[in-house]
Amino acid sequence: MDQNTIDEISSALRDARSVVVITGAGVSAESEIPTFRDAMEGLWKSFDPMKLATPEAFDADPEMVTRWYDFRRTMCLEAIPNPGHIALARMQDEIESRGGSFTLLTQNVDRLHQRAGSRDVVELHGSIMVWRCVETGRQHVDLPAPFKEFPPRTSEGTMLRPDVVWFGESLPEAALDRAFEASSACDMFFSVGTSAVVYPAAGFVDLARQCGAKTVEVNRDETAISGGVDWPLRGASGEALPRLVSFAFDQDEVREEGSAFE
Ligand code: OAD
Repeated sequence: MDQNTIDEISSALRDARSVVVITGAGVSAESEIPTFRDAMEGLWKSFDPMKLATPEAFDADPEMVTRWYDFRRTMCLEAIPNPGHIALARMQDEIESRGGSFTLLTQNVDRLHQRAGSRDVVELHGSIMVWRCVETGRQHVDLPAPFKEFPPRTSEGTMLRPDVVWFGESLPEAALDRAFEASSACDMFFSVGTSAVVYPAAGFVDLARQCGAKTVEVNRDETAISGGVDWPLRGASGEALPRLVSFAFDQDEVREEGSAFE
């Protein structure tokens, strides 16, 4: 990980007044939650999203779809927030304590950001921890895991589905509005751990840049947006984010001790 890039990003972060971060599955990879498109262990390498993550798949086989989502829900409940999640929660604290604004947009449904201490998280693709009644739309949280029956049902016997965005469905309007508003008003935008191929989430970095923000990508690999950001930082988010936050906000201690990250 290039130290000059870390220094430049940290310095810009220290001076930023309005920061937006968007995360994808990569930020939870170090919490042992599989991503979707990674070459080997990505979910979409083992499962066909069109057979599991669409309304048509649910209508055709609600038992199989809810079993698969409950398997993922249980895995997310057992997962532990990693240093990347924790660093983003601290970034929010530091920016807001300086009177700045911070918005965390996530495509992830695992709620690890919230468990790490992030507040007011914008869940663009919903949450696997929330299940909703297919008839009334009423949301249910903190349901026992794993479910005892599939598809799970309410006490009135109506089916429950995961409150996540499936392919072909619209994103929650309130989440979209917040994402557009924050991305068009920020002076720094981070894209972390996302392949940036699913829209509209993948488009917010362009909106931020068009509105004058400095843009950063933290990703283990090259992505569709790497060539267009001001600072492409190649590396694991669980290592990069703590370094960025520490260099930005512990600069006195770190500078005195010399570079703590050789
Ligand atoms: P992907 O699996 O498409 O991309 C994960 C990205 O994280 C890739 O670019 C990896 O290189 C990178 N990555 C993996 N491990 C990392 C690490 N330790 N540190 C940093 N980066 C790492 O997942 P998403 O981009 O989140 O849609 O996928 C976007 C959407 O597509 C998901 O929200 C889901 C999926 O289908 C819906 O559920 C609607």
